[in-house]
Amino acid sequence: MTQDSTIKAQMRQLIQILAKHNHAYYVMDQPTIEDSEYDQLFHQLKALEQQYPECIQADTPTNKVGGQALPKFDSITHVVPMLSLGNVFNQEDLFAFARRIEERLPNQKIQYDVELKFDGLAISLWYENGILVRGVTRGDGETGEDITQNVKTIRNLPKVLSSDLVKIPTLLEVRGEVLMPKAGFEKLNAENEAKGEKTFANPRNAAAGSLRQLDPAVAASRPLAFYAYGIAQCEPNHGLTSMSESLQWLTNFGFAVGERHFVCDSIQEVQEKYEQINAERPNLSVEIDGMVVKVDDLKQQQQLGFLSREPRWATAYKFPAVAALTTVENIDWQVGRTGTLTPVARLNPVAVGGVTVSNVTLHNIGEIHRLDVRVGDTVSVYRSGDVGVTMNSSVSSRTQLDFQMAV
Ligand code: IVH
Repeated sequence: MTQDSTIKAQMRQLIQILAKHNHAYYVMDQPTIEDSEYDQLFHQLKALEQQYPECIQADTPTNKVGGQALPKFDSITHVVPMLSLGNVFNQEDLFAFARRIEERLPNQKIQYDVELKFDGLAISLWYENGILVRGVTRGDGETGEDITQNVKTIRNLPKVLSSDLVKIPTLLEVRGEVLMPKAGFEKLNAENEAKGEKTFANPRNAAAGSLRQLDPAVAASRPLAFYAYGIAQCEPNHGLTSMSESLQWLTNFGFAVGERHFVCDSIQEVQEKYEQINAERPNLSVEIDGMVVKVDDLKQQQQLGFLSREPRWATAYKFPAVAALTTVENIDWQVGRTGTLTPVARLNPVAVGGVTVSNVTLHNIGEIHRLDVRVGDTVSVYRSGDVGVTMNSSVSSRTQLDFQMAV
């Protein structure tokens, strides 16, 4: 081996070790080494890079917080539009979804791929010859924003595709969702509160706010994670025949997919998985608002096609929100340890999903204005996942109100 290739091999090894520990720390919230050991490895890599800048690897974590703050994001038109999904909310609607499919595909065996429905932000990632070149938000489905700089700071996302088993495509466009895992969200809010900075109402808002930071250094400091759920383009064609295989194939390159996914032989089995996932929801590392049911076979998907902006071959099966109505008795200002003032809505106590709720934080004055919440309002309070309690004003048809339980 030449000296260069030895150095590069050392760098690659360090990058892989660091990526593994990052995943354990940020995504699984189960650190596998001490912080000091991590720092040591990180500095070892940095020292090598300083000495041999010509060997620096494109996916090094040391330049994650590099990059300049942008004046604004550029618009990018999606080559393959990012469409939406129809919804079902109960068994009857689910079975009707299956019947419509069976009618279009008579006498065919239909299997369903069942995935978590991530409650985050949809993005699209472009890899050219295995290098991540672009990350774009969904936007309106036709045009999104170029958030490449921020996407590159997401730790569990491969910046360079490598695999011992699979040939690297010349073009790969992967679709998925950016989320802030619950553990990271709670840590971020606790840290922000201690510093007297603004806290986020829920992981979705935190992820959205982080991804739209013009300064990639801020995005880099946020514990974001990416979960893949589909392939929009692949050249040369991957030759896969099912949705479930596609997800498995993506994991070869280091993409994370949902903690749960299943292939079901019947729609009855899909219903069983719905009940199972709903019960396991509090134990998952990320927020979900339901599951997504897709016809597994890609040829059948093609045969079914789309109805306006939604595929006929997939639907979201949403979880019910456990809700209860109550009234806002007062809005108080709570003084924090650092002297910050936080508005808190005092509610007529109400039982929701096993807890009695009498206070919810309104976070800040901006939130009060945005939500237009007032004393005397009737609100519907519901538990969203196990993150907290959200309220939804039912006084008028104003926008949905998001609150988190005051602790
Ligand atoms: S597949 C043709 N799979 O749900 C659309 N979407 O309501 C195919 N979502 O904007 C989408 N988890 O961001 C798919 N496992 C999953 C998903 C998922 C969350 C989001 C997605 C989309 C929205 C549609």
